[in-house]
This record gives sequence, structure tokens and C-alpha cells, in this order.
Amino acid sequence: MKPIEIRPGIYWVGVNDRVTDLFEGLWPISQVGVSYNAYLVKDEKTALIDLSKEMLSDDYLSQLSAVVDLASVDYVVINHMEPDHSGALKRMLEFAPNAQILGMPKAIDMLKDFYGLEENTTRLSNNQELSLGKYTLRFVYTPLVHWPETMMTYLVEEGILFSCDGFGGYGALDGGVFDDDYADLAFFETEALRYFSNIVAAFSKSVLSALKKFVDMPIRMIAPSHGLIWRADPARIIDLYRTWSEYHLNPAEVGITILFGTMYRNTEHALNAALQGIAAQGVPVSVHDVRKTHVSYILPDLWTQRGVLVAAPTYEGKLFPTAMDVLMMADRKHIANKTPAYLGSKAWSGGAQADFARIAEKLGWQVLNSMDFLGGPTQEDLVRAREIGSQLARAVKSTA
Ligand code: FEO
Repeated sequence: MKPIEIRPGIYWVGVNDRVTDLFEGLWPISQVGVSYNAYLVKDEKTALIDLSKEMLSDDYLSQLSAVVDLASVDYVVINHMEPDHSGALKRMLEFAPNAQILGMPKAIDMLKDFYGLEENTTRLSNNQELSLGKYTLRFVYTPLVHWPETMMTYLVEEGILFSCDGFGGYGALDGGVFDDDYADLAFFETEALRYFSNIVAAFSKSVLSALKKFVDMPIRMIAPSHGLIWRADPARIIDLYRTWSEYHLNPAEVGITILFGTMYRNTEHALNAALQGIAAQGVPVSVHDVRKTHVSYILPDLWTQRGVLVAAPTYEGKLFPTAMDVLMMADRKHIANKTPAYLGSKAWSGGAQADFARIAEKLGWQVLNSMDFLGGPTQEDLVRAREIGSQLARAVKSTA
């Protein structure tokens, strides 16, 4: 894609990545891709805001060269040091050796750690401003969204917030870069939630703190470093990020995420009974087969639904491994405020139920109820499973 002038003298100079399979080496993006958005402000002075991943340096520099002589770039603003945005920096500096690199003090420290760079750097302070001529950049420190050095850059005269990872999402940009370029935003909102739950959710408290820093700054455009630029309705993505972040503190939406695993369908039969109990209460469910589904796709539901039913058997005296893997990730992502229940086959020994109780305690989840059974479920077990489903659904509704 060619550079796009998003406001007079302000350009989107991002690149799409449709070749990386795992974002951060963890999260699948093969199907949807991702964009590394960067921005150029051409004024009396020229500032570049963020870069791209190293492997796309050629695309990025070619993009940039279309709108500016690289040697004329005065400032390179580093909102965030993670290499998906800073990886092209050393290549860029080959063409602009005198450019001044601006970042929060921790970012400047990291420049040395990641790239051995110590020259031509400026340590910024929170709310420091830089006049480029008619435009002014204000640097707002937003630590831990999602690294400690992270800041956002606010272009005062236009009300544009270059928010880097904040308000970002997976998904390559298919021609248009703005929210109003797409008739249906469902894809980008779904991928924004997946990105949020994978990357940012563990730092929800920091997101809410960051939002407070902008209450007195009118935001007319959100220009993140991944995904859409929100100019028609910037409040939409801000509200989504605020809502998702608040689930860290408060119960989430009425719904139950099912973490389902089975070896020989015995647990599946019990789950089917539980699902009937839930359905009778009219509570939505998201059933995820933990044997087949990457945790990246489970986290959005786990984050946004207040109920959890782990339906997975004992394996070698403990909880079914792929179910435990999801719960371990939930622990890492600080997924709190859940109402959980458990059911599963003990096979010939049992152990999963106690294993689940241990991880639930670590997560701070109060287990509502649980049941297990040797081998396959009896008719009596199926009645109990249905009742557990019903009880969980009622509990989820009652905290509404
Ligand atoms: Fe998009 Fe945290 O880097």
C-alpha cells in the first residue's frame, strides 16, 4: 500500500505483515495478518512516529521514501520499543544518521539493550512538547501499555493520538486504513478484542490509568500502530478498550466460556447434559475444544464472559493437559472475577477436580460447584451435570 495523507502534512506510512505466523512468537495471525502502522509529520521539522518490524524494513523505507527524503527526517519518535515497531530503526538511521531519537527514559535505555544505540537520543518527560512548526507533539507517558517505556504521542492542533499498541488490533489493512473505509467493522473489532486479550489485557489497570491522562485532550483521531485508524468514530475503540479493561475489576458479560476436553467422550456426555442446564437458563455459551483451539482464540471469551465451566477429564492423576494450559495462561493474564465450575471423568483414578481447585484458588476464582465420576457418567451423573450447568447459569445471571 502507498502512503496515505491522513491530515495535511501527516502521513500513514505503515506496512502490512501477511507472512508472520505467530505474533510475538505466540499468537496466530496467519489467517488475518497484522499491520505495523507508522506516521510521518512533515512540517518545518519532520518527525517520524514509530517504525516497523525489522524483516519489513525494505517495505517500510520504500514507503517512507515516497513522501520524504529519508536524510531530512529530524526526529524519530519511539512510542514503544518492542521490535515490531523499532526493528527498522537501525536501517533507518543508515539513511538519516543525524536524526534525533526521542523516547521516554526507559525507551532510551532499551535502545542500548536492543540495538546498541546511544548516540543522538533525547530522554523525554511526561507531557513534554515539541514544536515542529505549525504542529506540536505532546509526549504522554503511558507505562505498561504494555511495556514499561510505553508512551503515546498527541498531535495537539489536530487532536490525533498516535497510541501505538493501545487501541490496536490484529488484521492487515485491506486497502483502506480508516474505520470509515469499511462498511462492516465486525472483523476489526473481533481482531481488536483478540489482540487486547492476548497482548494488553494483563495490563488493564495501566490502560485505565492511561485513559485518565487524556480526559482534557480532545481526541479527533486514534492512530494506533496496529489495525485501523479511527477517525469517523474514535470513541468507539476507546469505549471498547475501556469496557474490556474494566472487566479486570468488575464482573464481565453474562455468558459462560466452556473449556472442553475429552479422551473417549465420557466427559463430553456430561458436558452435553450441563449445556442443557445452561441453555434452559438462557445464558450464552462459548464452547472451546481445548484439544484443537489455540488459546489466542479462547482468551477473548474467557476475558469477556463472567462464567467458566471446565469440562475436562483426569489425565495421569491431574487435569487434562490442554485444559490446564489454558488456565495457566489465564493466570498469566490475570483473568479475575470469574464464577467457575468443573465436571469431568475421573477415568480410573481422579485427580483433575483437585488439580482444578488448586489453579482456581491461585486465580482467585471461587469454585461454585464441581463433580467427577469414574469412567463414564451414569444417569444420575448426567442429572447432576445438568444441575451444575443450571446452577452456574443462575449464578452468572445473579451477579448481573
Ligand atoms: Fe506492537 Fe508491543 O508491540
